[in-house]
Amino acid sequence: MLAEIKNIAQNFAPRLIEIRRHIHAHPELSGEEHQTSAYIAGVLSSYGLNVKEAVGKTGVVGELAGSGSDRRTLAIRTDMDALPIQEYPNSDFASLKPGIMHACGHDVHSTLGLGTAMVLSQLSNNLPGNVRFLFQPAEETALGAKWMVEDGVMEGVDAIYGVHVFPSIPVHRIGIRYGALTSAADELEIIIQGESGHGARPHQAIDAVWIAAQVVVSLQQAISRTQNPLHPIVLSIGQIEGGRAPNVIADRVRMVGTVRSLHPESHANLPEWVESIVQGVCQTYGAKYQVDYRRGVPSVQNDQTLTQIVESATREAWGDDSVQILPEPSLGAEDFSVYLDKVPGCMFRLGVGYQDKTNYPLHHPKFEVDEGAIVTGVVAMAYAACKYWELAA
Ligand code: NI
Repeated sequence: MLAEIKNIAQNFAPRLIEIRRHIHAHPELSGEEHQTSAYIAGVLSSYGLNVKEAVGKTGVVGELAGSGSDRRTLAIRTDMDALPIQEYPNSDFASLKPGIMHACGHDVHSTLGLGTAMVLSQLSNNLPGNVRFLFQPAEETALGAKWMVEDGVMEGVDAIYGVHVFPSIPVHRIGIRYGALTSAADELEIIIQGESGHGARPHQAIDAVWIAAQVVVSLQQAISRTQNPLHPIVLSIGQIEGGRAPNVIADRVRMVGTVRSLHPESHANLPEWVESIVQGVCQTYGAKYQVDYRRGVPSVQNDQTLTQIVESATREAWGDDSVQILPEPSLGAEDFSVYLDKVPGCMFRLGVGYQDKTNYPLHHPKFEVDEGAIVTGVVAMAYAACKYWELAA
């Protein structure tokens, strides 16, 4: 099976590069992936998949029926949206749309999804169960996975795989992490309501600026003293506004921030915890407050067994050097976790870093990928999908 997969993927390599370059040159923003999804639907249909369009607004689902001896369905998820970034053009397939760029590699992800579908479509007699390919919109705004799930894409699914490119991992390598891969990302809005007054007579007012400053400091200190230090939490207040004049005490301050956490237990308690700190400070100094804690996406927690399958599939396909066990999770966020709320799964990182030139980070106008990674990733994904059926139902 493995030799066959490698062979088919190699033969598809020129076509896959063509697909990737087409998607790269025609980027679309989150929620506006109309041309991209039509293009993807066309490729899927031409390989005999059963295709549904306009799923999760602008998403696409392709279903590959197996031989039927196993009733399980494996999902493979990729994303397809681009970013509001002006590409620094240095290839003949650079973005044709001013101010929009595939700077997070979702063009490559879509290609990996298509490539895996193309390879498995040639082997579908050997696939005991169904494979459902999810091409989701709006990953960058963390809404697409939710839209897809609301449209029922996870009905009947038993497990899910996903992939994200990574420029700091060299090409032909795959980054594997057991357990936490990315962080939960929530948003926070705090309003402190004091009482205005003359800047010279603070004792006759309730200074919302001073109390807000205490809140910011207390939150940072409380993380280190009241939260488990082995469960990382990062809270950043990114914006703060209040006050009108140098000699007028501000009666109202508004602050917004992001809260990142890796451990599901800490994540569960964060809204109450934040409120208790804000409440403590505000009560002490007589201010009123409002805390709006908005849950974002949870942390991606990779399943042990499904991760093991990706690791062994990669080792068998490309040798031990092709596997890089990632020592640390990222405090970035990824809405793949929304699917993991439904079924176990694994997201791996695909190395796209050049060996011999500068690698720019994700979301950089000069971000580029070594396209040699496409075949590496397709083979790993397709072979992992085949090995999935060896698991006892
Ligand atoms: Ni991304």
